[in-house]
Amino acid sequence: MPLIKVHDKSFETYLAEEAIQQKVKEIAGNINKDYKDKKPLFIAILNGSFMFAADLFRHITIDAEISFIKLASYKGMKSSGQVITAIGLEMDLIGRDLIIVEDIVDTGKTLHNFLPKLQHQQPASLKIASLLHKPDALKHPLIIDYIGFNIPDKFVVGYGLDYDGLGRNLKEIYQLVDAG
Ligand code: IMP
Repeated sequence: MPLIKVHDKSFETYLAEEAIQQKVKEIAGNINKDYKDKKPLFIAILNGSFMFAADLFRHITIDAEISFIKLASYKGMKSSGQVITAIGLEMDLIGRDLIIVEDIVDTGKTLHNFLPKLQHQQPASLKIASLLHKPDALKHPLIIDYIGFNIPDKFVVGYGLDYDGLGRNLKEIYQLVDAG
């Protein structure tokens, strides 16, 4: 199988473009069914989810809105816990049906820390759609309502996901080849 190089690491094809597109369509179909007669607000978490969010939203046929946010994390001054703030979330979330769009849920830490902030704003409902999930890496309890692919606990790039800034533009998803 042809290998590609991103920075100093070798990657091999893991998910083909057609397989990804097929899965994205399937998830959109399920959302169209589940949210029939509702007007969900998709909240896509940047940077990684931009490609998945765009392709997913293209296949949404019900009335829906989308907003993009960036999460910034820093250590609280007093507590040792991680504080997550959302940049770009200016909309009123009260009573809205929210669908969080993620590229990948790895340890689950990001969403586990961020979801209470959203719940605090009293949405009518909150679901998560993630293209990829590494079940073996999950450390924080999290229910992911729409999962594209469950993948092994190995680093991947492409289709929005990066390795140190590079690889986001790849149409396929590539998996790190173990050295040696
Ligand atoms: P979590 O908080 O551990 O679930 O991590 C989520 C974030 O880590 C994702 O939104 C990605 O930006 C990044 N991430 C986790 N695993 C990978 C990977 O295999 N490749 C690229 N980015 C990853």
